[in-house]
Amino acid sequence: MSLVELRDISRVYTSGDHALKALDGVNLNLEEGKLIVVLGPSGAGKSTLLNLLGGLDSPTSGSITVDGVDISRYTSDELAHYRAATVGFVFQFYNLIPTLTVYENVALVKQISENALSAREMIARVGLADHMDQFPAQLSGGEQQRVSIARALAKNPRILLCDEPTGALDSETGVMVLKLLLSMARDFGKTIIIVTHNQNIAKMADMVVRVKNGRIVSCEEQANPLSAEEVDW
Ligand SMILES: Nc1ncnc2c1ncn2[C@@H]1O[C@H](COP(=O)(O)OP(=O)(O)OP(=O)(O)O)[C@@H](O)[C@H]1O
Ligand SMILES: [Mg+2]
Repeated sequence: MSLVELRDISRVYTSGDHALKALDGVNLNLEEGKLIVVLGPSGAGKSTLLNLLGGLDSPTSGSITVDGVDISRYTSDELAHYRAATVGFVFQFYNLIPTLTVYENVALVKQISENALSAREMIARVGLADHMDQFPAQLSGGEQQRVSIARALAKNPRILLCDEPTGALDSETGVMVLKLLLSMARDFGKTIIIVTHNQNIAKMADMVVRVKNGRIVSCEEQANPLSAEEVDW
């Protein structure tokens, strides 16, 4: 059994008498501990897919089982528990709380996760030990994204969902942040799903999923993914 199994997933957005099929008959199996990269053009349905995996949204039809349990049938309370316990998020725009320090932003996860890891240790691992008491506005974009990575990992989720985590960074900083994200996800044995436009990250993936017009157009497993050192950045 795979950690995550999507069966015939559709997500239709309706407004008035107009219906838009953002996802259309998606089937996908994701294995525990793997790095999965999702590629596809704008509007393909990548964020919709991640939102469903993260319990931020529910499918119009189909089932999503995580560890054998169908989360598409969860009540909103059960979904809230799933989001708190099982998934971590890294988004394009960091989503840090501006009035809390770096340390406080990361330590906050103790309130939602029962098995949270040390905030101080995670902040040190992303290289920001000297910035614990600064506020997000006092940090660069790359530093802010490193805080959000520390926060996502401190929550200690089984699944890490990253939607264009470097979309707001310059390419050099983006590569640095992605390398950090991937090495930490590997170190902690996380299942990590990244939506990115960076083709180099795809070379490092265990599986590359291509999405177009709400459908999976290919799903390739890579037996020998490259390491960050082997990729020609
Ligand atoms: N909340 C929503 N209400 C209505 N339509 C939506 C909503 N969210 C997404 N859509 C539509 O669903 C389709 C898929 O959107 P989605 O955000 O999943 O694409 P994406 O692959 O993430 O694109 P991008 O690369 O631009 O982020 C698009 O046509 C989008 O306009
Ligand atoms: Mg998107």
